[in-house]
Formats: sequence, structure tokens, C-alpha cells
Amino acid sequence: MPFDPAVIRASFAVVERRADHMAKYFYAHLFARNPGVRAFFPAQMTEQRDRFFAALTQIVLRMENPEQLTGYLRALGRDHRKFQAAPEHYPAVGASLIAALRHFSGHSWTPEIEKAWTEAYTVIARTMTGAASGVPPEVPAWWEAEVATRRRAAADIVVLTLMPMRPYPFVPGQYLTLSSPRVPKVWRPYSIANAPRSDGTLDVHVRRVPGGLLSTALVDDAAPGELLRLGHPLGDAVLDPHSRRPLLAVAAGTGWGQTRALLEQLAAGPADRDVTVVLAARSQAEQYDLPAVERLLARCARLRVLPTAPARGEGRDDADADAPVRDALARYGHWSGWDVHLSGPPGLAPSLTALLTELGADPALIRHDPAPVTFNRARPLTSSEWFLDQRDVPWINRTDLG
Ligand SMILES: Cc1cc2nc3c(=O)[nH]c(=O)nc-3n(C[C@H](O)[C@H](O)[C@H](O)COP(=O)(O)OP(=O)(O)OC[C@H]3O[C@@H](n4cnc5c(N)ncnc54)[C@H](O)[C@@H]3O)c2cc1C
Ligand code: HEM
Repeated sequence: MPFDPAVIRASFAVVERRADHMAKYFYAHLFARNPGVRAFFPAQMTEQRDRFFAALTQIVLRMENPEQLTGYLRALGRDHRKFQAAPEHYPAVGASLIAALRHFSGHSWTPEIEKAWTEAYTVIARTMTGAASGVPPEVPAWWEAEVATRRRAAADIVVLTLMPMRPYPFVPGQYLTLSSPRVPKVWRPYSIANAPRSDGTLDVHVRRVPGGLLSTALVDDAAPGELLRLGHPLGDAVLDPHSRRPLLAVAAGTGWGQTRALLEQLAAGPADRDVTVVLAARSQAEQYDLPAVERLLARCARLRVLPTAPARGEGRDDADADAPVRDALARYGHWSGWDVHLSGPPGLAPSLTALLTELGADPALIRHDPAPVTFNRARPLTSSEWFLDQRDVPWINRTDLG
């Protein structure tokens, strides 16, 4: 590597706790100097601010491991085709990144640090743009897909059946990113909830998140006939094609969609594995798609499904919402030698991985999707950070923005 990762890490540590402010500064700088770039981004930028700097954290963390770093950047670069990011945009992003880092580093910024960041960004940008330009021309940046049907599965959950306009190859267990013209430029991940079908359709199970930009539009408004955009299939929480080990799947909420895709794939093959599914819902009323569960049970002799939901009045807060799942896992098995798939909200995998390991599961056999990348805000703020946090970047020097 042309730059010293230790210099980057040390300088990132200086600015990391001010990342929220730095991100605002970065985008203000980028859009002030390159007004045309604003149109690529969604109207509401809060989430994206978080993700850009969370991605930088990932990059800085991976610098000691160039192979991992390259894999991450190549995937990010290929995915940026759907945002219509082109090579000519990268220098502008780099200049604003360095400006933001410089601004928030204060006196600790040195020519040596600036050189290291410039070199690091050159490698990052070259890897991302190289991966994007290496995608074969016949592979689209996104797929148009029509909403074929929409079914309300529970009060806050709809199942959308989508018909991509051109073949959309994927492996059961993968997820896709979805965008709707109802909330332009906003992309969010959703699991594909079926094994590939002969008619090419695919399902997504969407739960409305209160105040959520895309989930609200999909659950409340998406109608048959309208077009959505699909990003490339992503994720490697798929079945190990060589495994004949028994399989435990824990599916919580709309995580059932991903598990259903895996079960459909298993049902199409020989019945040579024991499969246990722990099906968790926040309440009995939210235990949805049960006819599909029945059909799979009828097709798979070696499948057992354990539905769990908090009794009425329980599970109101997150601390005990997954208690029934934990009880079922502890009651029904010792999981040594089992493949394990976990699908559900982001907190599920870390908490159940710890429990299942105690119950004998091999962590190397546990698969799940990556948690969305956000900052770790777990460390309490110091009093000066708290003070700074209350301000909405009044210290941005407008003359700096050019
Ligand atoms: C790999 C992966 C697979 C996913 N699969 C599915 C799926 O199959 N079905 C599905 O419904 N969702 C799934 N999600 C979640 C989905 O991508 C969106 O995060 C969710 O729909 C909210 O998006 P939004 O635009 O409506 O909310 P945003 O506008 O992004 O968020 C609004 C507010 O809600 C909070 N928030 C965001 N997501 C959640 C959440 N899940 N629970 C509680 N609060 C939240 C945000 O922090 C923010 O404060 C998946 C996420 C990942 C990372
Ligand atoms: C080092 C360079 C870059 C890094 C590390 C980076 C990182 C990211 C990340 C992590 C995301 C979120 C992806 C997701 O949630 O799926 C994102 C989204 C996005 N990026 Fe980049 N990016 C870079 C360069 C660029 C450039 C040059 C453009 C040019 C326009 C761009 C435009 C976008 C857009 C439009 C989005 C979507 C915004 C949203 O969903 O809110 N990025 N970027």
C-alpha cells in the first residue's frame, strides 16, 4: 500500500467522535462546490450522512487487511452504478473528504497526514471505479420490476410480488436493494422471500417502520402496475451447497421471508436433512404467512416449525421480546453440528450467536446477513462532546466552502 495505515488510523481517531458534524460539513462542501452532484442524492440526507462515514470507518478498520478491504470496496463500487456515480465524481468527493478531515482535525492536521489521506483516497476511488467498470456491459446497473401483486399479510406487513423486466438471477437467502419513484434516490435492502420461480417473479415481505421513508411508501401506497428498481442481489447467507448437516433457522418478523426462500430450495431437493425453524413474532397477531408454513410442512417430512410469540402483555420492550425464542432454543436442542441461519432485525444475530454458542453451535456454521453499517454511538459522550453535539455545525466557516 502506498500510504501508512497507522497514520490514517491515528488521524481518523481524532475526528471520529465528531463524525456527525464532519459529515454535514462534507456534504455542504461537496454540494456547494459541485451543485450538479446534489441531484444524485435523496432529499433527506440523514441516513446517508451516517452511511458514508460509517463506510469510512469500515475502510479504516480494514486497512490492515488489504484483501478484505479490496473485496469491500469492489462490492461498494459495483453497487454505486445504481446511484449513477461516475469516475468523474470521485475527485470531487475526495476533495470534500480531505477538506472535512482537515477542518475537524484542527492543529493535529499535518502535511504528512494530508499526503496519507490523499494516497488512501486514490486507492479507494481507483478500486471502486475499477470494479464498476469491470462489470460486463450486459449486466444492468439496476433492474426495473413491476409490482405484480400486493397482499397485506399482517397489520404492518405487505408481501409484494415483483416481476423484473429482465431475468434477475439470485440464490435463495440473498437480499436485494429496492428503490421507488415515490421516494426518489432512496435505496433500502429487503430479503428475497422465495426460491427462483419459472415465471421469474419474486416476493419481498415489507414491514412498515414508523416514519420510515421507503417502508411506509411500500406498505401503504405501492400498487400493482407501478415500477420499482432492484439493485444487484447481495449477501451470502445462503445454504452451504455441500452440507448435509441438520439445519436450524431462526426467523424473526419479516426475517421469515429469507427463511422461506431457503425452505423452498430445500423442499425442491432430496429430504435428507432435519430442519428446525424457530418462527418468532412480536405478537400472535403478527405471526403471518402461516398457510405457506403449512404447505412447506406438508412437503418436507423432516421439517419441524416452532412458532413463538410473547404472551399478551409480554414483549413490550426489546429486552424481553426475544425471550420466547431464547427459551425455545434452550428447550429444544443442543445445536452442536447444526448449520444455523439467523434472519430478523439487526440485534438478533449478535444476541442469538452468543446464546447458540453456549448451546453447542459452532460459530463458523452460523450464517446471517450483515448488520446495516452505522456508527457505534455506544460510548457515552464526554461533557465537551455533549456540548458540541447540541450545535448544528454553526462553526462551519462559509468561506471554507468556496
Ligand atoms: C440485509 C437486510 C435485509 C433486510 N430485509 C428486510 C426485509 O426483508 N423486510 C423488511 O421489512 N425490512 C428489511 N430490512 C430493513 C429495511 O432495509 C429498512 O431498513 C426498513 O424498511 C426501514 O426503511 P425506511 O426507509 O422505511 O426507514 P428509514 O427512513 O431508513 O428510517 C426511519 C427511522 O426508522 C429507523 N429504522 C430503520 N430501520 C428500522 C427497523 N428495521 N426497525 C426499527 N427502526 C428502524 C431509522 O433508524 C430511522 O430513525 C433489511 C435490512 C437489511 C440490512
Ligand atoms: C470513496 C468514495 C465513496 C464511498 C466510500 C461511498 C460510500 C457510500 C456508502 C457506504 C453508501 C451507502 C450505500 C448503501 O446504503 O447501500 C453510499 C451511497 C451513495 N453514494 Fe457513495 N461513496 C463514495 C463515492 C461516491 C461518489 C463519487 C458518488 C457520486 C455521486 C456517490 C454517490 C452516492 C449516492 C447517490 C448514494 C445513495 C445515497 C442514499 O442512499 O442516501 N458516492 N456511498
